[in-house]
Amino acid sequence: MVDLGEVSQIYPAASFEDNSLLERLDRIIENASLRARNRTTTIPPDMETLAARVNILSDELVEAKLEISIFHNIFDKLKSRLNKLASEIPQTSKTIHELQAWLLEEIDSIADKKFVQYPLVAADTILRIVAAQVHLVPSGHEFFVEGSDSILESGLSAGLALNYGCSNGNCGKCKAKLISGEIKKIRSHDYVLSEKEKLQGYFLTCSNTAVTDIAIEAEEAGNENEIPVQQLSAWVRKASDVNENVRILNLKTPRTQRLRFLAGQAVKLEIPDVASTTLHIASCPCDDMNLQFHIDRSAANDFTDYIFSEIKTNELINIEGPRGHFVLHEDEPNPIIFIAFGGGFTPIKSLLEHAMTLDVTEHIHLYWSVAGENGLYMHNQCRSWHDAFDRFDYTPVIGDKNVISAVNSNHKNLPDYHFYIAGPEQQINAAKSALLEHGAIPDTIFTEIVEPGN
Ligand code: FES
Repeated sequence: MVDLGEVSQIYPAASFEDNSLLERLDRIIENASLRARNRTTTIPPDMETLAARVNILSDELVEAKLEISIFHNIFDKLKSRLNKLASEIPQTSKTIHELQAWLLEEIDSIADKKFVQYPLVAADTILRIVAAQVHLVPSGHEFFVEGSDSILESGLSAGLALNYGCSNGNCGKCKAKLISGEIKKIRSHDYVLSEKEKLQGYFLTCSNTAVTDIAIEAEEAGNENEIPVQQLSAWVRKASDVNENVRILNLKTPRTQRLRFLAGQAVKLEIPDVASTTLHIASCPCDDMNLQFHIDRSAANDFTDYIFSEIKTNELINIEGPRGHFVLHEDEPNPIIFIAFGGGFTPIKSLLEHAMTLDVTEHIHLYWSVAGENGLYMHNQCRSWHDAFDRFDYTPVIGDKNVISAVNSNHKNLPDYHFYIAGPEQQINAAKSALLEHGAIPDTIFTEIVEPGN
């Protein structure tokens, strides 16, 4: 551990602002603290859950052992029948001996195969003890529930738009139906399920964990119209400058009143008795308690002035939303090209993080077009994604360079791609026309107007 203040004193010429390693370190710390925050609210796997999972594995082990002993018997019988056949029909003896030699060779090679597969099987077995898999019907989505986390919490962390309201057992909006497997209540809830519902297998995903692998029938928001407008208050967790023009505002919602939204949407933010504005959410809905906003100084309004001059940690900000239709179309697995013009990066960042969490596509390419290098206020974050994910490419486009020329020279079959473009209206229109000229399909171009300072 080194103190950067001391390092600066010893090496006054050192520049830390543009150091991707430091930013990557920040990201690791942020992720780790996020996990830590989540951990404080989750219950480690209890004895009952562990015992149930180990029981299932031991049943499978017994079954596998029985099958192996049956196959051993069959193999011994096969050997003696082949020997008998070879002695009864001498003409076949050469072929039969060759067959026996091949069989013995295959059996000898089992030891090598075991050695190769052992680590994978061992890892899978451990995973099945510490986590249970959830299969959602009818979407077919799957995710893991670790320890004794709630099924709802795990599904949201996996980036799914599961139905819910209070996260706390009061509203009943997270009701789902158990199709197979075993669940366990992790907290008592005020919402009352009728006897008939209980008999039919209904339960609350916010108040139960998965003991074994389960299949459940649960509703997910199919599109933005299925998510209601919510009103809640959140605390300022941190406000930090990334450069002289952009300040990152991190808000934290109460555990029992989170914001349900889809990536790419916006909300109205209101500082009581001061000002209000509408901003896109820059973070992923998979972390619905921690919301990020990018504030552009050039907006020059009361809200922005307050954020840059007076905002304090733990101050309360009212949120109303979500709003907007610039959301991910996850049904089709086309490769995605994201194009952000300047501050249009905000909704694009949310979509990107969501797409990466959901693993919805084979390939993602981000183009960030800005007037000057200073506009790439999260350049190192984008480079870190590029380093961390094989299927993610990043191309910054600075100054007069044409972003569509860059897209066109990097991608040969534009009709195969989905495009998400955000930024000022004029630039979006120009980009859209150019893409269509180069063969992109109109229905696969999704746009969002983000003017400077909004
Ligand atoms: S989300 Fe309200 S009861 Fe589960």
